[in-house]
Order: sequence, then C-alpha cells, then structure tokens
Amino acid sequence: MNPLGLGVLGLGEGRSIISAGLQSDLWHVVSLCDTNETLGRERCDEFGVSNFTTDYAAMLANPAVDVIGIYTPDHLHAEHIIRALDAGKHVICAKPFIDNLEQARAVLAAQQRSGKQVMVGQSTRFFAPFMRQREHFDSGALGDLVTIEASYSDDHRWFLNKPWARQAAFKWLYGGISHPADLVRWYLPDVVEVMGYAYLSANGRAGGLVNPDTYHFVLKAADGRIARVSGVYSCPTVPVERDSPMTCILRCTDGASQADYHELRYAWTAGKQEVIESFESRREYYFRFGGNSHHAGEYQNYIEYFARCLERGETPKPDVREGIVTVALMQAMDESTINGQPMRVSDVLARYGLAKLVDDAGG
Ligand SMILES: NC(=O)c1ccc[n+]([C@@H]2O[C@H](COP(=O)([O-])OP(=O)(O)OC[C@H]3O[C@@H](n4cnc5c(N)ncnc54)[C@H](O)[C@@H]3O)[C@@H](O)[C@H]2O)c1
Repeated sequence: MNPLGLGVLGLGEGRSIISAGLQSDLWHVVSLCDTNETLGRERCDEFGVSNFTTDYAAMLANPAVDVIGIYTPDHLHAEHIIRALDAGKHVICAKPFIDNLEQARAVLAAQQRSGKQVMVGQSTRFFAPFMRQREHFDSGALGDLVTIEASYSDDHRWFLNKPWARQAAFKWLYGGISHPADLVRWYLPDVVEVMGYAYLSANGRAGGLVNPDTYHFVLKAADGRIARVSGVYSCPTVPVERDSPMTCILRCTDGASQADYHELRYAWTAGKQEVIESFESRREYYFRFGGNSHHAGEYQNYIEYFARCLERGETPKPDVREGIVTVALMQAMDESTINGQPMRVSDVLARYGLAKLVDDAGG
C-alpha cells in the first residue's frame, strides 16, 4: 500500500505520533500544526520535518494529508475532529476522545456524512503487556472472565504546569480514568451502571487543580458481572516492584492475569503454571524520549493497526461509537460522584439523543 499522509495537530504529546510516523513504512509525515510557532519550529528541527503551519485550515487543505492526528487539549477535540472530517480526512484522536457529550451527536454526524474513519488513540491497548494479556485471554487459556480491575494512578503533579490542566474544563476523570475505563470496556463492552466517589486532595488543590484527582468506582455489566476502576493523580506512588502506575487484572474461571505498565511486565496463573513475562527488551521501542511520559511505541502500534485496517476495509477500534459510549460511561461516573448514587450509562446517552449507540457499540 502507499504510505498514508499524516498531519499532526498539537505538538506536545503529538511528538509521539510524529516519531511513530517517521519510523513506520506505512506512514509519511506530511505536515505539523500548532498555534505555538516556537514549539512548531522546535519539532521541525527535532524530526527534520519542513512543513509546519500555525493554521489548521491550511493543513486541512493539503491534499497530501490523508489522516489528521489530534493531540490538542481535551476540550478542543470535538471541534478539531469535526473540521478534519468535513475536510475529508480520516482521524486518529488522542484519548479522552471528547470530554463531554454536548458535541457527541455532531461528531457522529460528521463521521457518518464523511464516510471517513475515526479511531480513538487508546494507547494502553497497544502496549506490549496489555496486547499480550488480550491475546492470552482470547486464546481461552484463562477461561471465562469473572471480573476485571483496572487502575491508573501516577504522580501527575507535573501535568498541572500546563495552563489548560488548571481550568474548570479539565478533569482527571477524562484525562486519566479514560485509560482504565477503556480497558474495562475492552473486555466488558456492555457496562450498564456505575457507582463511585471522588475527592480533590490537598496536593492537587495546591497545584491549582479545580476538579478531583482521586477516584474509586465499581461498574456493573448487563449480565451482572462487576468491575473496578481507580485513579489517583497527585500522590507519590509505591515502588514499581510492588505496584504499577497502570495495571489491569483479569480474574477468570481457570486463571488470572495482570498487565503492568512501566515495568513492561505480564504475570499470569493458569492451572499449575505461574509465569511472569517481561518485555524489557522492547523498552527503547516504547519509550523513545521524555522518560516514561511519552510512549511513541504504542502510537506506532496503533497507527500501523489503523493503516492495516484501512487497507483491509475494516473499521479500526475503538471507533467513534465505542469512543462516545466510553465518554458516556465517564460522564455517568462523574454524575455518580456528584449525586452519590449509581448512574446508568443508557440514561446519560438518552439525555443526549444517543440511546441507540448502546446497541451498536462493540468491544
Ligand atoms: N497516552 C496518551 O494517549 C496520551 C498521553 C498524553 C497526552 N494525551 C492527550 O494528548 C492531548 C494533548 O496533551 P498534551 O500533554 O500534549 O498537552 P500540551 O498542552 O502539552 O500540548 C497541546 C498542544 O496543542 C496546542 N494547541 C492548543 N490549541 C490549539 C489549536 N487550536 N490549534 C493547534 N494547536 C493547538 C498547544 O499549543 C500545545 O502545544 C490531550 O488530549 C491529552 O489527554 C494522550
């Protein structure tokens, strides 16, 4: 296949997809765009790319760009997705896909009228231990899923240096919890109800955070299975030998497994076997710059998956529908922390005229 032309919007985390595109035979990095001209010039020098603009419309008008990678602040995603689709481009959008449902119908309508693909860049699904866990589970070696526990807890006080992280629009519920919430829906797509609590810690408040930074939730699927999602963002973490900033545990009828993040570790039990696998040899592929805060290898995995789906005429997942239902789940979580009651995902979707998505969205 001919390499897909990539335009990158937002050059903070967008750095990772630039690196991914440059190292992939399936992609050609065509153009970079950011309203911050100084940063744009830095990225051009860093990656040897010459086509930079501060004008999104100019990048959208470039016929060599097939796909827009969106890495702008969360609250701008919906507008940027719609503009890309209306310009006839496919979209890969960083998580959280959108940060509220007000514009969900407009995003869905834009995708439908364009006929273009929209994939949510749920990076953790594309990290070695989590890919291995999924493939292992799908092999049947662990039996049937009983419950899943996913969490993402990391000391993200550094993130509060970004002015948009201190605005009322920014919520760790979307920025952080979108990872474990997506992991749960990957295995249990039909989560129907959620209950949880949230708290803004003294550390988060001191950093200028307006919304909570500490969350614990219990989720229920249509068939009665339950799951747990947690996230804590302004506290130190215990050593990685004992815990992982991002982890996903599957407890199944014939085995159990745990995928861990920065340690590139996967542990499982099935029958008499107890195994710990390491993907340490892949560290340089995944973490190319910026310590663990950028993880370009996951981006390379998901853009190559996206390109192969396009070649085969398949829909890359998570797609626009699955993305919107996950946002509805996060909104139900948010409302539960405010109301102190369990909230149903279908009620949230219905309020925005999106009830039909529950039947359509897959895992
Ligand atoms: N694991 C992941 O997938 C992952 C990791 C980190 C961040 N992210 C997501 O990436 C997005 C960006 O986060 P970040 O940490 O890079 O933030 P950031 O603030 O460092 O970068 C955002 C960039 O967007 C630019 N920008 C803002 N408005 C713009 C506009 N209208 N047009 C063009 N450029 C504009 C800013 O100048 C800035 O350079 C967020 O949605 C975040 O959740 C995803």
